[in-house]
Amino acid sequence: MSRWSFVGRTDELNRLLSAVTGAEGRGLFFSGSAGIGKSRLLREGVAALPTDRYAIWSIAASATTAALPFGGLVQVLPAEQPQGLSPAGILRWALDVLQQQAAGRRIVLAIDDAHLLDPPSAALVHLVARADNTTVIGTLRDGEQIPLPIRALWTDDLVEKAELSPMAPAETAGLLAAILGGPVDAGSADRLGRLSAGNPLLLRELVHAASGSAELTRTYGIWKWTGRFELAPNLTDLIDTRIGQLTPGVRAVVELVAFGEPLGLHLLNQAVDPDDVEVAEERGLISVIRHDRRTNVRLAHPLYGEIMRRRCPVSRTRRLQAHLAELLERVGKRRRDDLLRVAVWRLDSGTAQDAALLLDAAGQAFSRYDVPLATRLARAALDAGGGFDAAELLATILMFADRPEEAIEVIDALSPDATDGPRFSRWLTVRGMVTYWGLSRESTVEEIAARAADLTDSADQARVRAFEAIMRLHRLDTTTALRLSQGVLDRPAASVAARELARSTIAYLQAAQGQLRRSGTAIAQVHSEAARWRADMPYLQLALELARGTRLTLAGDLAGIDAIAADEFADLAGAGDFRLGTGYLAILQAYAARLRGQSDAALRTSLGACAVLATSRVYAGLAQAERAQAAALRGDAVQAAEAMAEADNTQAPGMAVLYPWLEQARGAVLAAAGDLPGAVKQLVDLADRLRADGFAGHEVHVLHDLVRLDQAGTPVGPTCSDGSRRTVAQRLTELSERVDGDLPPLLARHARAAAADSPADLLAVAGDFAARELNVYAAEATATALHRLRRDRPAAAGEARERLAALLNRCDLIRTPALRAGAPALTDREWEVARLAAQGVTSKAIAEKLFLSARTVENHLQRVYAKLGVAGRAELRAALRAIPGHEGGAVG
Ligand SMILES: Nc1ncnc2c1ncn2[C@@H]1O[C@H](COP(=O)(O)OP(=O)(O)OP(=O)(O)O)[C@@H](O)[C@H]1O
Ligand SMILES: [Mg+2]
Repeated sequence: MSRWSFVGRTDELNRLLSAVTGAEGRGLFFSGSAGIGKSRLLREGVAALPTDRYAIWSIAASATTAALPFGGLVQVLPAEQPQGLSPAGILRWALDVLQQQAAGRRIVLAIDDAHLLDPPSAALVHLVARADNTTVIGTLRDGEQIPLPIRALWTDDLVEKAELSPMAPAETAGLLAAILGGPVDAGSADRLGRLSAGNPLLLRELVHAASGSAELTRTYGIWKWTGRFELAPNLTDLIDTRIGQLTPGVRAVVELVAFGEPLGLHLLNQAVDPDDVEVAEERGLISVIRHDRRTNVRLAHPLYGEIMRRRCPVSRTRRLQAHLAELLERVGKRRRDDLLRVAVWRLDSGTAQDAALLLDAAGQAFSRYDVPLATRLARAALDAGGGFDAAELLATILMFADRPEEAIEVIDALSPDATDGPRFSRWLTVRGMVTYWGLSRESTVEEIAARAADLTDSADQARVRAFEAIMRLHRLDTTTALRLSQGVLDRPAASVAARELARSTIAYLQAAQGQLRRSGTAIAQVHSEAARWRADMPYLQLALELARGTRLTLAGDLAGIDAIAADEFADLAGAGDFRLGTGYLAILQAYAARLRGQSDAALRTSLGACAVLATSRVYAGLAQAERAQAAALRGDAVQAAEAMAEADNTQAPGMAVLYPWLEQARGAVLAAAGDLPGAVKQLVDLADRLRADGFAGHEVHVLHDLVRLDQAGTPVGPTCSDGSRRTVAQRLTELSERVDGDLPPLLARHARAAAADSPADLLAVAGDFAARELNVYAAEATATALHRLRRDRPAAAGEARERLAALLNRCDLIRTPALRAGAPALTDREWEVARLAAQGVTSKAIAEKLFLSARTVENHLQRVYAKLGVAGRAELRAALRAIPGHEGGAVG
């Protein structure tokens, strides 16, 4: 029974095609039950697209590819994946590759059985769907668990989702004729059609079950079925029976494919009789697909695999997996992926003995951020006698997965000889990382420093010193951190990893000190060397991310944060259990959302960060501080205080370098609770401390927070030689010349405009804030300007009011002291009257509705106009909208 022609489904096919060719190019996913015809429909749709206009990639995810990171997309990605990239880097690289190959055409990704995509592939699909000039289409089987990035395709409105319904009777009749290759008598068609319930695969299996028997006959060219089923047969039962009847040879073919698809035809033919492969293909059990220079064999339908695997006893499954591993080893591993496939088969079949192979595979899985798989492989490598290298890798992976206790067990089982310098220095550093960050043991620093002295070789020394330096940075011993790092950079013998780790430390310090340009150069350098340090020191990634994140936040570079967040679609790392990475990224995203005034997203994302980081002592305090900020932005003093208390609870002493974020959040929390003097004192003290520590990059933000609390004229810092002290505005102006970037001058202008009480300047500053999407600052500056205008020049307030309303419209609920201070206080009754009047209800009608006299309504309105500084009804609507927290005038 060979492939028959496509029947019916005209509307569905058109819908699929216009999803790709339509103006929006928004994709479409069909879901439905097994065998209903989703895959076939997708295939027909893809075949109908002109390849001169569309660069099309068809991907069939399967149970076997789901076990490997990027297994689902092996057919799409080039064999050689560059080494040394972060999760973001891999995805970005993959998207670039697709874009290059598309050469200007619209990219179409067609994904069959998207629910079976492995996490990184799913993340990449999501990223592609979000890019311009791309469309993603695909299928999903009902009732299956769907990876998050795929689910997000329709929740983020990137694709539509439609249920593929059973075929209509006329369609099943046509399909039956196509299967049998001739007309079918109407009664038979009707009965078979009904038995199949419009499911083409079931129809086909029914025909298969009947064919060759006396029930199915052809007379005068017309097919007739005389058989009978008591109950409507079940699809899996039918397939199960069919598979049970296969000859041993054909069965062996289907089995191997079920556990190994996609399998090279060449490889399969070595294991079984090629004639049996042909029979399996003829019977429609497998399909042979030519793809570039490779010919792959897959199952004709996933259900065959599911049933085959279910029927297969454990012992036989293992034998098959071991057999597949042998086969692939014998023909030679051709793609990078083959190594992982062999290793996983070895692991699953209990025949993992080759420590080198396992170690290599573990490294590969880790470099694709599949932490669970990497952990299994590294442990197997260690068990197989992989020794020091395996233990080092396993401990590192466990540390990344936030399992430091297990990591330390692995490391402490080793006791390298101090005379073996290279090994000893590696052992010291991994051990140091796990104890310092994982177990929060600060004494590690001294231990490391003491033992490093025993090392005689300069390169070994450099490695340990670079490590000591970054620990010292974290515990705020910045002078030593800097000296040690520079020392490492000065050593010609230092390895790339040691050097770049030292550079990351310096880059962090530079950012905190406000030398954002230099910091950026250093970060770019560390990044560009990634391929040379990744294998040697994978955890350097975290140091790099921290430096980069700090620099972006201090620069107020929201677009830069978006860029890493978009690339690094957090679920990739999340699904791979790369918790420190995911959590830190979420903190950055929450920060960007907060400054944009998207307080819903800020709160949600920071809560997510707290959850991911709950068991880690590394960034948990930072995550809670960010949550406190988000809650404070919403005016939720209770949650803000609670989060701050959590931040203090979870903040590890070894992460002291993060104090500016925590202390800044504390200021916001006090202000949200209405304790303005407390908040001001907190921030003034913090500014002093930052100044003493030389953290000018942080200091500008803290001073600006003081401006936001209307303290531009407040004195800060030490007494100068002339006996006076600088004001916040003066200090900010001074710093704006020392701290890089164009944000500090803008913050300083804000301070001066506020100090000078100049509405025009405040509005100009607000415009510049808004242009950078710093919507909260923009709204606050506008509100302050409006407040002054309302008081001094009510006639000129109209435009400011419009602007504030527009800015607040861009934000979710935000209630900061600056916004509240300027907001006119209306009584509940005044609100009620004003809101109705703004909606265009006449005074008379308002009076009737509220059981008041028309005169009282007029009096209320006059008072409202006066408080809002408007001339009359016409301006009322905008004026109400400009009151923060009221979003168009809910009474409150
Ligand atoms: N409109 C059609 N015309 C002809 N053949 C069809 C049609 N729809 C489906 N088929 C055939 O029916 C069988 C089952 O369809 P298909 O593989 O598309 O099901 P599916 O919905 O993808 O199932 P699953 O969820 O198990 O993947 C296939 O052999 C397919 O070629
Ligand atoms: Mg299918």
